[in-house]
This record gives sequence, structure tokens and C-alpha cells, in this order.
Amino acid sequence: MSESFQKSKKEFRRYTVTSALPYANGPVHIGHLAGVYVPSDIYARYLRSRGRDVLFIGGSDEHGVPITIKARKENVTPQDVVDKYHYMIKDSFEKFGISFDVYSRTSAAIHHETASTFFKKLFDEGKLQEKENEQFYDEENKQFLADRYITGTCPHCSYEKAYGDQCENCGTSLSATDLINPKSVLSGNKPVMKRTKHWYLPLQDYEPMLRKWILEGHKNDWKSNVYGQCKSWIDQGLQPRAVTRDLDWGVKVPLEGAEGKVLYVWFDAPIGYISATREWGEENNREWEPYWKSKDSKLVHFIGKDNIVFHCIIFPSMLHAEGSYILPDNVPANEFLNLEGDKISTSRNWAVWLHEYLEEFPGQQDVLRYVLCAAAPETKDNDFTWKDFQARNNSELLAIYGNFVNRTLVLTHKYYDGKVPARGQLTATDKDTVSQISRYPEIIANSLENYRFREALSELMNLARLGNKYLTDNEPWKIFKTSPERVETIMNISLQICTSLAILSEPFLPFTAQKLNNMLGIEPMMWDDTGSIENLMPEGHMINKPGFLFSKIEDETIQQQIDKLINTRKLNEDKDIPENEPFKKDIGFDDFLNMDLRIATITGAEKVAKTKKLLKLTLDTGNDTRTVVSGIAEFYQPDQIIGKQVVLLANLQPKVIRGIESHGMILMAANNKGELAFLHPDKVINNGGLIS
Ligand code: 2FM
Ligand code: ZN
Repeated sequence: MSESFQKSKKEFRRYTVTSALPYANGPVHIGHLAGVYVPSDIYARYLRSRGRDVLFIGGSDEHGVPITIKARKENVTPQDVVDKYHYMIKDSFEKFGISFDVYSRTSAAIHHETASTFFKKLFDEGKLQEKENEQFYDEENKQFLADRYITGTCPHCSYEKAYGDQCENCGTSLSATDLINPKSVLSGNKPVMKRTKHWYLPLQDYEPMLRKWILEGHKNDWKSNVYGQCKSWIDQGLQPRAVTRDLDWGVKVPLEGAEGKVLYVWFDAPIGYISATREWGEENNREWEPYWKSKDSKLVHFIGKDNIVFHCIIFPSMLHAEGSYILPDNVPANEFLNLEGDKISTSRNWAVWLHEYLEEFPGQQDVLRYVLCAAAPETKDNDFTWKDFQARNNSELLAIYGNFVNRTLVLTHKYYDGKVPARGQLTATDKDTVSQISRYPEIIANSLENYRFREALSELMNLARLGNKYLTDNEPWKIFKTSPERVETIMNISLQICTSLAILSEPFLPFTAQKLNNMLGIEPMMWDDTGSIENLMPEGHMINKPGFLFSKIEDETIQQQIDKLINTRKLNEDKDIPENEPFKKDIGFDDFLNMDLRIATITGAEKVAKTKKLLKLTLDTGNDTRTVVSGIAEFYQPDQIIGKQVVLLANLQPKVIRGIESHGMILMAANNKGELAFLHPDKVINNGGLIS
């Protein structure tokens, strides 16, 4: 056995496996499944199959500003919002076989109590700093504007809809005061500054601990994306982090004089893992504390890459400050999954929603689990496409795994009425096959212990391939009449491979494994039962009638999904076009006559240095040759426009723009996206021709 395989087996007595708590403000989609829930479920199922003591924790994250904003928009309470989505998410997870030992929620009383006690302990021990400062306030709504209640322009990438806590365009984490032109989401008004008091976790105090624990201790076993992000945060210098907010939805700050204040959602949410464990303990009459406080427990957080700093820097600092908790042994964060080349987006409905998949592909949960694991964004962002989904089902699951199992079971019924035949003398090929098979449990385990789920799955498929090849090479159907004893051995070995597949595929494909167990007429077995391949399936055992494990996915079915996305894209494009501007107020005829509008021809054009938008144009106006600086460089190249006739507002006062005197303005038409186009006369008009 490999060293790492042995090591983790020896060192830990129990495993605490957490999966990021999804926000209960929308349903879950394939990105959630691929990034967090499929890998964590595979890991937890694998550990259980090894007989380890494992607690797999999930739950809904029910606080935070997006939830209150949604409630306000829909004119319901935040509790209504989280009730709706908590049950919907929980149901999707159950139907996809995500095998949580507990799925809790952060609006539960046990969570409020746990989070509040945690905060109070840090406060009582002087581990939080109290600070007063000025924060944005909406005077119309009489409310401080925490996090997503404020938007503005990102100082890093100029994205105009950045939030007070993060820019979703460039991913930078922001403070509200970093935003350019901040605006209240509630009223659209420019906010004022108002004094308020908050509590801060002095992250800088934990820098030495974090350096030692992560940078020295986990350089080699954490994924490089995770390690890299942590290093960059620590190297940039850690700052005190506010852990409270002026909001009314959340866990109330348990201090006198803190009315109207709640814990910051990222302070309470990870404590949700602990509350969920307590809930599990109460419901099952088990002790929860060893899972969080014993040094021989291994804590692993499964998350997406946007959560790295919270799980590797902030939450561990909180746990360390509290003093009685262990720190995570690993945080195998995944990158993001895209859909058909575009970022998955809830607001643009660019997603494959789990509740819809369940209706459209009934009974095919394992196909999606398989595809999402095979194409998981483990080391880089990855793309989900429906064509790939179809190909992996038809040419991998169906053609390799399903085909091998089906051939084996059908032949066993045909030749022996479903009774497992005896194994005779083994040939060299048989011995080689048997020895290869017996290595798979360890090979797959080794990948799983090191969080390489794609690799593990591809090894599982290699086992199915091996079975397929063994049958094809030995062609029992050709020699059944001439060498019946040989066929008995071939079928016996093939049945051993089927049994091994049923055991080893359970973490990845739990529904398939169960079906296969039923067909083989066996109870679920443990991972280590595969150690001796030869005794998996006893001679004389009766197997059941075979059914199909997978079915072909037709082009038509895939086209329907692609069409659905094409429609979504069209709807988004229509939505993207802003409404027309309302008309301005009426003017008198004289106002119009005051404007001297003429036809002119562009005779020269060049870019204005160091600008993106400006072109310096030379115009023949019929009366003179003049220069006009025009903001059209994003839409026209200089050499494209020489010789074009345009409409000029000739009597606009001259103005110096970037050191160039510009006299007049070229009239342009703008569509609602702000794209510009020239206006041309529809036959040639002499330069200087009047427009009236
Ligand atoms: O990013 C998210 O979806 C968060 N709701 C994850 C929270 S994980 C944990 F800390 F609760
Ligand atoms: Zn940005």
C-alpha cells in the first residue's frame, strides 16, 4: 500500500467533512454540484465504505444581504425566502444522493445560540476590537448600507455594478468605501457618512499561526490554487476584519448597546457547520464535540474557490482564537464550472438547475454525477456542454460499464440460468487479469485520499474497460460449445469484476451501484471486501435477472437542452437592451433655428494619443476646413471613415479637448447599448449643404 494511503488510515479516528452551505436565495445548479457536493459526497461515501467514522455536514446559509434584498423585491419576509429555497435545495440534494448525515440551516435556533456563544466568548476574552467609524447610510431608508446594499464602480476594473463587499467582475474583495460613485441599492441615492460601532477580528494577530500552519505545514498537501491564494493574502498583510453589521436579518450581536446589529454572515455561516454537528448529536444521541475538538479528527472543508479566504484564513483564525477547536486538515477547493462557454449565472438564468434536470432526466442522477466528476473543475475552470454529457453517457457509461455488466449477466443467465459457475484452472491471461483487478481498490483509494476525484473516476472506468476487454478477448460465446469448462472460468471472473465494480463505484454512482447489487443479488459490500477478488462472488450463488444500468441519450434530447439555452440567451439579449430614453421637454422653433446643421466630408482622421474613445477629424465644410474631436474611436477605425459625408453642428462653441481645439460636433445616432453610428444624406449633397 502506498504511504499516503497508510498514513491517513493510521492517524485519524474520525472524519468531519463539511460542504459549503449554499445561500438559500435560489435553487442549486450543476456548478454547485460539480464544485462542492459531488466531490464531498464521493469522499464521505468512500470513507464510510472503508468503515471509517465520518460525519458529512451540509446546510443552508440563510443570512446575508442578498436574501433581504430578494425578500424586499418580492414583498415577502426574509424567512419566507429562506423557507422556500432551503426545502427546495435540500430536496435536490437528497434526490441526487448527496448523503449528508445532517442538513441543517442557519436560521435554526441551535445555530443562533451556537454562533452567539462563539462571538460572546471571543468578546469576553478580549479577542475582538471595538471600533467606531463612519459608514455609508441611506437617509431616505434610515439604514446603514452594508455589503450588497451599496453598489458603485470598481476601482480595479471599472465595472459599474460592483458591490460594497466584492466586485463580481474581477473578483476583488472590496470595502464599501473603495467604490467610485457609490449608490444605495435601496433608494438609488448617493449615501451619506454616519458614525457607527462595530467589532473586529484582528486577523493580523493570527498571522504567525497562519504562516506556520499553512505556509510551512501545508505547502505540499494543499492544492496549489488554495495554497497560492492563502500565501498571497498572508503576504499582503492581514487587516482587522469587521464581524458585525448594521442589519436586522441575522444572528443578533449578543451585547448590550448593540441593538440593530447582527453578526456578519461570513462570521456566522461557517459556525453553521458546528451548529449542524450539534443538531446531529442531539438527534442521534451522540457526542458532537470529538468531531470538532479531538486532535485525532480530520476536518476537511469542500468549497468553491470564491470561499478560500473564509475557510483558510478567517474561519481558522476564529477557531484558533476560540481555542478549543481543531483546524482543517485540508480545504480541497475547486475552480468554477462554466456552461457552454459562459459563466454560470443565476440572474441571467444561465445554468442547468438540479430540480429541472430531475424532471427532464428522471432516474438519471448518476449520469450527471458521472459527467460532473469526470469534468470537474479540479485544477482549472472547466466547461460543461450537453454534447459532452451525451458522449460520456453513450460512449463511456453505456458502452463500457453498462455493456460489460449486461453481457456478463445475460450470458450467465443464458448458460447457467443465473447460477455463478465454478472457476477452473486459470490461464496466464486470467491470472494477469485477476492481479490487475485486485490493484484497483488501492489505486482508486489513493486518488480519493488525495482529493483527485477525476483521476479516481477514470481508474474506476479502467476497471470496467478491463472487464470489457477480458470478455471480448476471450469470446466465451464462440467457445461455449467446444470448451464449456473454460467458459465457466471466464464467466466466473467476469462476475467477480462486476461485483468489484458494484463496490468501487458506489461513492461515484450510488444509484447504479444499488441497481447492480440488486441484479447480482448481493447486499452492499465494503471497500476492503474487494481485497481478495477471488471471493467476491461465491460459486453457486444465484444472480437476478439483468436490467439496464444506463440508456442511450438521443440527439433529440440533447438538442432540446441546447435549444433551451439558446432561448435563454435570446431572452437575455433582449433584456440587455435598456429602455428608450424619455423625450426631453418641448422647445420653440427658434431654438431649432439657432442650430447651424451642415453636411461636411471627413478628409482626415487619426487617433488622439493616450485615449480610447477619441478621434481627431478634419472636415471639409464647404466654407472652411476645420478640426473636430469626436468620441467614436471605439466604433470606427480612422481609415474606414475618410470620404464619408456626415452631419455637423457647425456653430457649437470651440472647445479644447486633450490639447486640440475642436470646432463643432458630428451628430451620431446611438442605439440603447450606446453604440454609435453616423448619419449620412442618402444622396451626395455639396459640403456646407444646410440641414433644416
Ligand atoms: O458562497 C456561498 O455560497 C456561501 N453561502 C458559502 C458559505 S460556506 C460556510 F461558511 F457556510
Ligand atoms: Zn472589479
